[in-house]
Amino acid sequence: MWSLLEELNVKRGSSVIDPFCGTGTTLLACRDKSYNSIGFDILPLSVLVSNTKLQTGYDMRQLKEKIRELTSSKFDKKKRRWPELKFFNVEKAYSRYAYSDILFYRDKIMEEEDEKTRNFLFLGLLSIVVGCGNIKKDGGVLKIMKRKHIPPVKVLLKNRLKRMYGDLENKKTIPGAEAEAMLGDARGLPVDDNSFHACITSPPYLNWVDYTKVYAIELSLLLDSGSELRRLRKETMRSHVGSRRRKKKLPESTKLSEIMDSLWENPDPKKKPEVVVDYFTDLGESLKTIHNSLVDGGGAALVISNTCMSSLTIDSDLITAELSENIGFSVERILVSNVRWCDVGGIKKERPVRESIVVLKR
Ligand SMILES: C[S@@+](CC[C@H](N)C(=O)[O-])C[C@H]1O[C@@H](n2cnc3c(N)ncnc32)[C@H](O)[C@@H]1O
Repeated sequence: MWSLLEELNVKRGSSVIDPFCGTGTTLLACRDKSYNSIGFDILPLSVLVSNTKLQTGYDMRQLKEKIRELTSSKFDKKKRRWPELKFFNVEKAYSRYAYSDILFYRDKIMEEEDEKTRNFLFLGLLSIVVGCGNIKKDGGVLKIMKRKHIPPVKVLLKNRLKRMYGDLENKKTIPGAEAEAMLGDARGLPVDDNSFHACITSPPYLNWVDYTKVYAIELSLLLDSGSELRRLRKETMRSHVGSRRRKKKLPESTKLSEIMDSLWENPDPKKKPEVVVDYFTDLGESLKTIHNSLVDGGGAALVISNTCMSSLTIDSDLITAELSENIGFSVERILVSNVRWCDVGGIKKERPVRESIVVLKR
């Protein structure tokens, strides 16, 4: 992140936007270097996690006491139920005790009146919920995986909160820059034109991963119902089959047209070509939002992964570069940040696939 800020030649006091802020990496890195920043994400979970990681000015003695109070509270006998997820059986994923302990702690934390403390404690709980169940995040899906010797929720929570408290104690003084995450859709953000000096972001990859499924356990502790989760799924960028189909024009790109011709002719049975069309339509709209939000001469760095299909590789980095040029960006560089090997048709490591950083200038 810090190298990217240098790459984009961002001057002190400038402001940076991240339209897909996830858990706030860009925002934290910017603040560490005294740049103001603002992030957006479609998921309330990402916004909460980012803002909690950005919180400062704790009363450390009070926080320590609250951690002690929470982790020594006596369990009650109240019956609590997890919102129904439909695609994943939460009851099967936890022991009877873990299931009710997590919900007990969630309710206890929500009773906390001080927002900063409540967020801190809730982030602690969120970060252990997968670890205290028989759950495995496998690529884009949640799986039930029997695990032996899972410590009690109480122990895991206590240790995690202690560690987070230690992190806060060791954090050096935070520079005075402003940073905040907000709910928003990158395809149309409520920001003024020409108001940011740089954009550093990582849009969802075209990998058929649905964030509302991967983070369903954590999201369902935050949302009141499974139907709220299903509504959010439809709003996410269309990199998977669960999002809402919207009739929009595919942005013009020679590379993309060639790929689409080939995919319609020879479709991948598991990865529908419609998703590819929708993905690049959404990416095109997000690029326009980014372009409008930047000042003339402002820079953008987009972390993008290419996609392995059975018959071909979709070079999303090159397509992004072409789409960006078509809307008025100039492409400064494409940095290769990683190479993954993908398995195709039973052949292990059949093909290398790039993860790149597309560096643009308005
Ligand atoms: C690759 S992740 C970003 C990771 C981030 N760089 C980090 O450090 O955590 C992509 C993010 O885009 C969000 N997202 C999906 N659709 C979106 C949309 N339409 N508008 C804004 N954010 C969206 C997802 O919730 C996810 O957090």
